[in-house]
Amino acid sequence: MVDSNASSGSPEETPNPNPDGNAPSESDVTLDALARKVQESLSLGQKHKFWETQPVGQFKDLGNSSLPEGPIEDPTPLSEVKQEPYNLPNPYEWITCDINSEEMITEVYNLLTNNYVEDDENMFRFNYSKEFLRWALHPPGYFRSWHIGVRVKTSKKLVAFITGVPARIRVRDNVVNMAEINFLCVHKKLRSKRLAPVMIKEVTRRVHLENIWQAAYTAGVILPTPVSTCQYWHRSLNPKKLIDVGFSRLGARMTMSRTIKLYKLPESTVTPGFRKMELHDVPAVTRLLRNYLSQFIVAPDFDENDVEHWLLPKENVVDSYLVESPETHDITDFCSFYTLPSSILGNQNYSTLKAAYSYYNVSTKTPLLQLMNDALTVAKKNDYDVFNALDVMHNESFLKELKFGPGDGKLHYYLYNYRIRNELKPSELGLVLL
Ligand SMILES: CC(C)(COP(=O)(O)OP(=O)(O)OC[C@H]1O[C@@H](n2cnc3c(N)ncnc32)[C@H](O)[C@@H]1OP(=O)(O)O)[C@@H](O)C(=O)NCCC(=O)NCCS
Repeated sequence: MVDSNASSGSPEETPNPNPDGNAPSESDVTLDALARKVQESLSLGQKHKFWETQPVGQFKDLGNSSLPEGPIEDPTPLSEVKQEPYNLPNPYEWITCDINSEEMITEVYNLLTNNYVEDDENMFRFNYSKEFLRWALHPPGYFRSWHIGVRVKTSKKLVAFITGVPARIRVRDNVVNMAEINFLCVHKKLRSKRLAPVMIKEVTRRVHLENIWQAAYTAGVILPTPVSTCQYWHRSLNPKKLIDVGFSRLGARMTMSRTIKLYKLPESTVTPGFRKMELHDVPAVTRLLRNYLSQFIVAPDFDENDVEHWLLPKENVVDSYLVESPETHDITDFCSFYTLPSSILGNQNYSTLKAAYSYYNVSTKTPLLQLMNDALTVAKKNDYDVFNALDVMHNESFLKELKFGPGDGKLHYYLYNYRIRNELKPSELGLVLL
């Protein structure tokens, strides 16, 4: 059984170190389980002092289907949006980060490399590369004012960070202008001082100033209230290293050589016409992707500019492959993954885990299973140690068969100022955030 080799812990599985102790420990967070968790935390007097004041689905409204779907609060006139930044504790000041500046991106990179998301056991920490951060923060129409840092006034040291980027996200039939919020990070020495709520309020204010009133974000912790709860799955590509660094365990009754054999992949891809995406493919890929994503309840509304930015291959950042029919030259299938290494903390032999994360995949002619096996094959060829995927879209259909094992962490999806009537199944989500 592949699942017996499932990983024990990594930021990929538990993308949040659970700062508030609110994360679930059980494996299945259904609506009932969530409601129970909420009851428990309320009886323990654990309230969400900040999130209870925000226009988000509240726990008390769980299951109340009389509330209308859509924006929770109406937009306010722009002239009524607070013009000055929120107050920070006296030693700190706001900065707007120019991600194009080498000096600035280095400061952001160092803050995140040392302080961003770790797994529960503090064995791994996300290590987003500088090129990745530049890509993630500079999509079409980005706002520089949404890349927000907090510095110590005296030393100028960067101690906190939060970002937004604009995105059109469709919820059922409505395409909504949103901000995707990401990279919230407070230096380890400044935790639990209620800095995060001020940062969230400040990014919200700057988003409002651009006349945008909704946002999408993900977190490993439970906040009021997930629109969906997904699970990460992991496919070993380099099982020996994964076991050596404690990412996974040798399964019961398994030897190392049998494990290596179990995860062996072909030397080359098998689908005729499988090749890397190129610039001239953007219109065909956009058509393919738009058509595919239309079936999900929540999904990005990508145009050609978005596809060129988010999906055209960029070395060590994002990889995309497609199937061009050898006969008709039609583009029939597509798969992609992004590159997000993790630092391996305190291991003598290895410092980095090279992970690929499944991004957007579309199959119309090639079976999804075969397409994804080709994706695994190229990832292995390019020296990735592990291939991760969420159970969103149609991913469930290939995970077990392609020897992915379930991780032990959950990823919760949230919308700000937009109510969804019922919790969505992961397979109803067509959105992957970085
Ligand atoms: C996430 C992080 C910024 C929170 O800061 P903190 O110092 O632990 O918490 P603070 O005292 O400043 O603020 C606590 C409030 O922030 C909320 N909060 C914590 N993590 C959050 C998250 N990931 N997203 C949104 N809100 C979050 C808490 O729920 C709490 O609000 P509540 O009282 O309404 O529940 C910090 O722990 C951190 O940098 N962790 C590592 C990186 C990380 O996990 N980033 C988030 C990725 S999703």
